[in-house]
Amino acid sequence: MCGIVGYCGNKPASGILLEGLRRLEYRGYDSAGICVGTDTGLKVIKKTGKIRDLKAIVPEESFGHNGIGHTRWATHGGVTDENAHPHTDCSGKISVVHNGIIENYNQLKDKLLAKGHVFKSETDTEVIAHLVEDIYTGNLTQAVRETVKHLKGTYGIVVMHYDNPNLLVGARNGSPLILGVSDNEMFVASDVNAMISYTKQVVYLEDGEIISITPDGFEISDFHEKNISRPINEVDWEFESFEKGNFEHFMLKEIFEQKESVMRGMAGRLNINLATGHLGGLNMTNSELLNIERVIIVAAGTSFHAGLVASYLLESLARIPASAELASELRYRNPIIQKNALYFVVSQSGETADTLFALRELKRKGAKVLGICNVVGSTIARETDGGVYIHSGPEIAVASTKAFTSQLVALYIFTLLMARMKDMSFEAGSEFAKQMFSLPDIMDKALSKADEIKKLAKKYNFARSFLFLGRGINYPVAMEGALKLKEISYIHAEGFSAAEIKHGPIALINEVTPSLFLVPDDRLREKVISNMKEVKARKGKVIAIAVEGDKEVAQIADDIITVPHVSEFIYPFVMIIPLQLFAYYMAIELGRDVDQPRNLAKSVTVE
Ligand code: M6R
Repeated sequence: MCGIVGYCGNKPASGILLEGLRRLEYRGYDSAGICVGTDTGLKVIKKTGKIRDLKAIVPEESFGHNGIGHTRWATHGGVTDENAHPHTDCSGKISVVHNGIIENYNQLKDKLLAKGHVFKSETDTEVIAHLVEDIYTGNLTQAVRETVKHLKGTYGIVVMHYDNPNLLVGARNGSPLILGVSDNEMFVASDVNAMISYTKQVVYLEDGEIISITPDGFEISDFHEKNISRPINEVDWEFESFEKGNFEHFMLKEIFEQKESVMRGMAGRLNINLATGHLGGLNMTNSELLNIERVIIVAAGTSFHAGLVASYLLESLARIPASAELASELRYRNPIIQKNALYFVVSQSGETADTLFALRELKRKGAKVLGICNVVGSTIARETDGGVYIHSGPEIAVASTKAFTSQLVALYIFTLLMARMKDMSFEAGSEFAKQMFSLPDIMDKALSKADEIKKLAKKYNFARSFLFLGRGINYPVAMEGALKLKEISYIHAEGFSAAEIKHGPIALINEVTPSLFLVPDDRLREKVISNMKEVKARKGKVIAIAVEGDKEVAQIADDIITVPHVSEFIYPFVMIIPLQLFAYYMAIELGRDVDQPRNLAKSVTVE
């Protein structure tokens, strides 16, 4: 979604801001802009379209001493140059970038219009610039502090004023802001990607805080002027992780990275001697863990699908009742918090508004909530009672791939831990741990089918609708495969339990609506094969993802992609790879913007 970057220091600002915006592109946006402080005034340059379109109208030689930049994902007002950020006040001396939504902007705007302020855009953000103008009497930090008292809604804002060169003031309420600290220069951004090429020293701002930044230092205070001291943290992501390397797209790079990212997520967390899992961040004693009577996994999108897979595993192996809930629905359902229930909120970004608000609602009701996040220091990671970082490294493509398998790793290790505390034998625990350690090898085998899948995409590029069908633990994998395909190729796809098609979806089957079946050699294989035959009998094309050497499936299916034989619960890790690759190659076939699909944002920070 929207992205913010700000800079003040001794280097010319415009180039640094453009580079920061380029690194925020992955979040999804429809326009972008910068405002740079110069000796003669603030210079605002903004444009709909891509960063390259903005770059084309910014002087080639970097200029200015400080500045702010923004990528906008439209909420209030259409996608126009005027509605792009930064927004300025009437005098043109104050400039603002904003992530989030100002809910009372209409009332504020009416009051400001009555006072004679002239608006240039349809956005909620512009009211902030005019409010600061109205309140400012020489102290920008104080003016921002007074301004936020009038705002209702969520925001991360950064404000600059021509009369205060070398000062940026930020405020946070519900939308992340992070400070980047370096020698004689400071950065502020909505995520670390924007500044990772300049510094790894960061300070996380909390809700209800204001930050004043100059090249020499920063001061944090709350909305009531209380000073706050906050440590500087080191980000451990490598700069290279933000580059595509030899891959054409981040998505393809991230699909192929999975054999390493799952390993990182396991490192130090599987105890072979005790045949169990170890997750230090849970902040729970063994007896507290033993008291858990139910596990509820709360998430959105791909993270929700990972939660669904894990719910099957937890029930089967740890024998704990488990379910996955959509965060957006749970929040408004007035959830009943059961005694001894443990909640996990799962989020790659750690900033998804639906998941964050569900977390807050659960905590307000007194639930025990742990987090499973990728982005270190993200809001969800900080607001949970404990949890696990999945360590999959930065995921840049909008379509989530490696985060999914790394989320599974964390949840599988938690399951092993719980199962071993309950009924699972040492031998079974050892076997499970051994299978987890074999993930990189088996995932590598699944990845080796990339060229076959590319050909498959060529063959099926005519189709405008697909069914993805699986059973048991692979049913949510089918849902995830369908989500991947629709996200990046814009082809309609739905994931169903293969058993469910006869209750309705089979009416969709015809020659141009292919079905993609997941057929592991598990106890539901025969049933899935029957469903395949039902589709074939209705002239539907069948693509099967089946196990190496499965001749019966090969005979029925029109096309087959094979994966290695693994044990029942490990299949989600190998079944998902052909589906991710299929979505990728279909999107390439259709000439789509794979890494930044239309209308989507990497981190969805609005409801
Ligand atoms: O950052 P999160 O894991 O909380 O994001 C949740 C969803 O927005 C996300 O998984 C989304 O569905 C992806 N675009 C899927 O590829």
